[in-house]
Amino acid sequence: MIIYKNHKEIQAMKHSNQIVAQILSELKDMVKPGIRTKKLDEYAERRTEELGARPAFKGYRGYPASLCTSVNEEIVHGIPSSRKLKKGDILSMDFGVVSHGFYGDAAVTVPVGEISPQAQKLIEAVRESLDKGIEQMKVGNRISDISSSVQQSVESHGFSVIRNFVGHGIGLSLHEEPQVPNFGTPGHGARIKPGMVLAIEPMIAEGHFEVEILDDNWTAVTKDRSLSAHYENTVAATENGPEILSVYPKSGVENYRERKHA
Ligand code: MF3
Ligand code: CO
Repeated sequence: MIIYKNHKEIQAMKHSNQIVAQILSELKDMVKPGIRTKKLDEYAERRTEELGARPAFKGYRGYPASLCTSVNEEIVHGIPSSRKLKKGDILSMDFGVVSHGFYGDAAVTVPVGEISPQAQKLIEAVRESLDKGIEQMKVGNRISDISSSVQQSVESHGFSVIRNFVGHGIGLSLHEEPQVPNFGTPGHGARIKPGMVLAIEPMIAEGHFEVEILDDNWTAVTKDRSLSAHYENTVAATENGPEILSVYPKSGVENYRERKHA
């Protein structure tokens, strides 16, 4: 069952998602060669508390941290550790909070110091594909219109779309219906209606899309160990088009993007 949100509920979700965007933006500034991923997790957890929210991922199906930190060939669900980031790495940070019962969820991939042109291209491609997907979240379209736009965009750059993980509805639960795959043909699935709120989250690989789970039972990596990148926004469908909720409202902080879809 898809749970549609009214205006008040969307305002509450905006609040949760702004906290997520703000913390991701602060984390982004901390990402430098030499920092341990555990430090980022500790910071995220402390800031969440300061901002009056609760981490959404900690304890979720037994996940042991507040932040997901996935490095290079790691796709998603990387567990923060004493690992030090190195110049040339790329780091995906996925983060969620709950505030007043409502969830916020977003992710970014950032460079660690100077990175290769190919890694840079991969990050740009995943971000572009998210934008293309969001553009399709218009009233009257269907879920797979989002999926197919994401896929076309990713593949036009010669990269592949991860199949094993999908975006999702979000609200009073982290994961609600519908699922939002990042591949498929247009014209299928639920119709997009005002009040639908989705976490759209393309995960892409430089090489093949096949996935392997590491022995920690969480970290998903590309089977061919090629680089992977991930971007995620929580977006509400309105009569006036898609509105991205996971943006940091104060100006001058680039983390998320201007409200160009709002
Ligand atoms: N954005 C991811 C998702 O929607 C984050 C979940 S991490 C977990 O599934 F630890 F909570 F599983
Ligand atoms: Co998500």
